[in-house]
Amino acid sequence: MKQENKINVLLGLQWGDEGKGKIIDYLTKNYDIIARFQGGPNAGHTIEFEGKKYILHLIPSGIFHPDKINLMGNGMVICPIAFQKEVEELAQDIPLEELKKRIVISNRANLIMPTHRLLDCINEKSKGDKKIGTTGKGIGPAYSDHTSRIGLVVGDIDNNDFAIKSSALNKKHLEILKDHDVDMDALTKENYQFLTAAKFMQEFEFVNGPYWIDKQLNTGKKILAEGAQGTFLDIDHGNYPFVTSSNTTIGGVCTGLGVSAHRIGKVYGLFKAYCTRVGAGPFPTELGGEESDEWCATKKVEDENTQYPDPDINSSDPFIQGIALRRKGSEFGATTGRLRRTGWLDLPALKYACMINGVTDLIISKADVLSGLKTVRIYETHIEGDEYANEQAVMGNQKPNHPVFRIFGGWENNLRKKKRYIDLPLNLTKYLEYIQRETERPIVLISTGPDRSEMIFH
Ligand code: IMP
Repeated sequence: MKQENKINVLLGLQWGDEGKGKIIDYLTKNYDIIARFQGGPNAGHTIEFEGKKYILHLIPSGIFHPDKINLMGNGMVICPIAFQKEVEELAQDIPLEELKKRIVISNRANLIMPTHRLLDCINEKSKGDKKIGTTGKGIGPAYSDHTSRIGLVVGDIDNNDFAIKSSALNKKHLEILKDHDVDMDALTKENYQFLTAAKFMQEFEFVNGPYWIDKQLNTGKKILAEGAQGTFLDIDHGNYPFVTSSNTTIGGVCTGLGVSAHRIGKVYGLFKAYCTRVGAGPFPTELGGEESDEWCATKKVEDENTQYPDPDINSSDPFIQGIALRRKGSEFGATTGRLRRTGWLDLPALKYACMINGVTDLIISKADVLSGLKTVRIYETHIEGDEYANEQAVMGNQKPNHPVFRIFGGWENNLRKKKRYIDLPLNLTKYLEYIQRETERPIVLISTGPDRSEMIFH
């Protein structure tokens, strides 16, 4: 077989919110095409430059670069209403005609309907205190329709019977919803919006994804696949059932774009210098443990600001320290505004993510957020002396106990000004070198602040 041009991939190695938007935007200069392969408007990819902050939910993070194409792959679930809104917001800064050149959509990508969102909310409610804490964007129900082989795809929009087909599926959903309080007036309005937005989508190019990508690769185009969510939210390899409904790990690239495993080149694994999780589910290194879990599930940003106006990042109470870390790292859901649970870096989880994804290069984000701490921790095991139990704890099948953690000295507060690896504080380089040694992977990029420019090569 001749040497093929390969696709590189960037994946989140934790529970999402690792800062993928910024890194993809930064790496885009080296590529011609950025391709999203899974997820939908549950994602919130943040990019900051020239004093402006953008949050992308559906559109790939290469959108701010002229002459780059952004593919929305077949593995995605696309809400036409959310797509139109996102495009219109971007059009305030980038002309619509230009956006139309920069975005192409796979004709096999799945559509999210207004009733999918209703089903999502009702499914969650029916779970009571076992709820997952979904984003409420209709992700699970849309993927369920896909696997049940009844869903709508982007290519359907071009067919004359699209309105009839979507109305038939709407009826099926209403049958499931019949015992629930549905605001029919609001739904009728949204269904109309859905059809209008689907029409709006037709102004963009629909492509046959696998053939389109094959052609691009064969003509030497450089492609970067953009992951959404993170490894532990993967439907098969995450902390099931506290996961999203797609493959966020490496296999999702093959199925979500229609490329063979042979065509995958570098796998960049992105992790934050600490961990966060939004929504329910296992989180072994959570600062404040169950108290934090409960707090984040029930409180809003305003409650936290009022009750804890000035939390100490070096507090001896882990719950307070967790709040301080959340405040310092702006760890509030980019899609839902929810409080993200915070915790120390989880090495067994990171090693698992490297293994599952075949990570070749590591990238670390938010190293600056840990500055100012007197000491920083990394969890080395969750259940000492029992490898099997430790692995079970990583997967979320067993509650961690007897953890072992390593303590590092902290580093000072001015990381964002640093431009070279050798200028980084010694304690931070010790932290990074330890992670490299343990994961047996190089850390090739270090993100030291939210802005596009705050990045160090290694
Ligand atoms: P869903 O994807 O909306 O079904 O939510 C399932 C779980 O994944 C919930 O715990 C969400 O909080 C979480 N989740 C979904 N998307 C993201 C994301 O982009 N970042 C972080 N967590 C996410």
